[in-house]
Amino acid sequence: MVRLLRFDGVQRSVHWLNALLFGALIFTGIPLYFGSFFGVIFPRHEIQEIHLWTGLMLPLPIVVSLLGPWGRRMRQDLHRCSYWSKAELRWLWTLGRERIDLDKYNPGQKANGLFIGAAIIVLWVSGYVLQWFRFFPVSWREGATVTHDFWAFAVFVVVAGHIFMALTHREAMVSMLKGTVSEKWAQTHAKEWVDEESAT
Ligand code: HEM
Repeated sequence: MVRLLRFDGVQRSVHWLNALLFGALIFTGIPLYFGSFFGVIFPRHEIQEIHLWTGLMLPLPIVVSLLGPWGRRMRQDLHRCSYWSKAELRWLWTLGRERIDLDKYNPGQKANGLFIGAAIIVLWVSGYVLQWFRFFPVSWREGATVTHDFWAFAVFVVVAGHIFMALTHREAMVSMLKGTVSEKWAQTHAKEWVDEESAT
């Protein structure tokens, strides 16, 4: 059976490192928000430190993977997620009811990728202001708190949805573990990408 490479080693490593960092941030973000959880597993200071340092490292895997010769597929996919055809916008608008030939990622997956990229930037910048607040005016600190909370909540919801989709779409999930998908799966779920691969 023919198998197509969907994610190379760099992409899979970035995905799982990102998942680890996001998991740690959500895990430590909950007691930071609901102060009453402090001390259940770690004392407050440890949780703040883990959250801060994990947060500061959050952009690293993506940035490192995009720079340098190892990042060809990462750069290709970043470009892919930024390009939206009219048909893809209609697919998203109709929540997938409109039948189209799909790219390597369907519009829902592209939107998820773009949201996570934006969340990393917004949470990093607002987290930086929260930590080094004395260098910023009061209005910035207030804005950073509201922004950080709002995006943290959105990340929680989107990540929960992402995990649900991964667990209910076995072949897509396995491709993030082993790298490949069957040609049959790709013909159904990513026809445009199969055509693109066979043309190169
Ligand atoms: C998945 C990503 C993240 C989630 C879910 C998250 C969640 C949270 C939550 C819920 C709080 C509590 C806010 C409050 O008390 O109202 C918080 C605080 C904070 N976060 Fe994040 N955050 C994330 C990413 C980041 C990043 C990237 C940084 C990087 C600098 C960061 C730095 C901070 C700092 C410094 C605080 C204040 C901690 C304190 O009370 O001393 N966070 N975060």
